[in-house]
Amino acid sequence: MSSEQASVPRRQFLKSAAAVLTFPQPDDAVPAEPSWLWTGAVTARSATVLCSFRGLPNGAPMLLVSERQNLSGARRVEGAALAAPSRRYANRFVVRYELTGLAPNQEYFGGFVPASGTRVRLRTFGAGAYSFLAAFASCAGGTRVVPMSHVSNTRLFDAISALDPHVFIHMGDLHYYNLTGAPRPIEVMMGRFRRSLDRVLSQEHQALFYRKTPIVYTWDDHDYGRDGSDASSPTRDGARAYYGTDIPHYPLPLSKNADGPIAQRFEIGRVRFLMTDGRSERNPGQRTMLGQRQFTWLFEELGQAARDQVPLLVWVNSVPWIIRDGDPEGWGPFAAERQALGQRITQLNLGPRMLMMSGDAHMLAFDDGRNNPHGGFVVAQAAPLDRFVRRKGGPYSHEPPDQRNGQFATLQVDDSGTTLTATLQGYRHLGTGTAAPVPETRLRLRCSGGRCEVLTPS
Ligand SMILES: [Fe+2]
Repeated sequence: MSSEQASVPRRQFLKSAAAVLTFPQPDDAVPAEPSWLWTGAVTARSATVLCSFRGLPNGAPMLLVSERQNLSGARRVEGAALAAPSRRYANRFVVRYELTGLAPNQEYFGGFVPASGTRVRLRTFGAGAYSFLAAFASCAGGTRVVPMSHVSNTRLFDAISALDPHVFIHMGDLHYYNLTGAPRPIEVMMGRFRRSLDRVLSQEHQALFYRKTPIVYTWDDHDYGRDGSDASSPTRDGARAYYGTDIPHYPLPLSKNADGPIAQRFEIGRVRFLMTDGRSERNPGQRTMLGQRQFTWLFEELGQAARDQVPLLVWVNSVPWIIRDGDPEGWGPFAAERQALGQRITQLNLGPRMLMMSGDAHMLAFDDGRNNPHGGFVVAQAAPLDRFVRRKGGPYSHEPPDQRNGQFATLQVDDSGTTLTATLQGYRHLGTGTAAPVPETRLRLRCSGGRCEVLTPS
């Protein structure tokens, strides 16, 4: 750089450089490539792909879907375009592609321009007994410590990607924007959430991971509203509405019109998952975390799981379950509600074939059920992806001597059709885009005949 350039303030120099580099392009030169793409709602025969575009001058492009990465022999899938303006981009669109009639247990690639290499990729689940790997964690944001970043670009996402899980279950704090503001007009609030999401999905390590790995996501406080936020948050309606349009998700039985909690039920092979929304119905005054409708839904779903004799039930619950009554964190303030659910689980004899995944506490720790008087099931706390360490709750039977940043866990299910083995394993980032198992956090359940036994030593 010459001494003359060096004397120009940096910002001004960058601006003038950008002005030189930016020039209008003719319409036909605008590539039909999305600014992001991710996928979810995977079943044995279907999946959802969501793509965001800035401007759609020629309408929503067809998604090319192929079993091959080069998209050869692709079928063309029509998308439904929705104007989804963000705080930054008025011409932002989200296009939803519903993939149906897929083959079970099959890898698929989707893209728009075969030559570009931009792809989304997923694997359908097997029909019936199916062995799979799910990764799960929460709390992404902290790559830069001062000031603390709102979003994460940690290479930990490369490490999770290297394990190639069939799904990634994100249990909240997808970002730390702590949004607030007037609830109306709702479009303004939705625009804030969309801007935050765009920031997350523009972090290269996350963006590439989500292109390769379908997401299952429930929010926690920092990505729903402010720290500790609940049903009274002014962000509630905007969060629900944007979740419906911008996040790939399974059917929302309690939020058909973006007007309820984002609770979901889905299955991978013979394992059933129930995922709850611990924020948007939370009412501390009435001592409920789930709210009446969601509590009733969960109560009924627990009964249904028992009647269906599912070999393993997983409850994705964003905040710590094992925590003393009255503790301000996790389920502590909602002791009666927890007790009622625990009694239900005990009465249904579901505890022995159930496990819980939780985040919020920035720690990695499992419990084999011995410290869980409310249902007696296995609990796996897995966090933080990329945030400072903070312990909550416990005690836990399986806990490393120290906690670190850069932690997640996996659930490996091996299902023969009669015996299902579920292995929980905690991992820690080595700082190089690779992760190592944390030996203290390993638990294995062997399920058959309607109950699971915890195998120790595992
Ligand atoms: Fe967090």
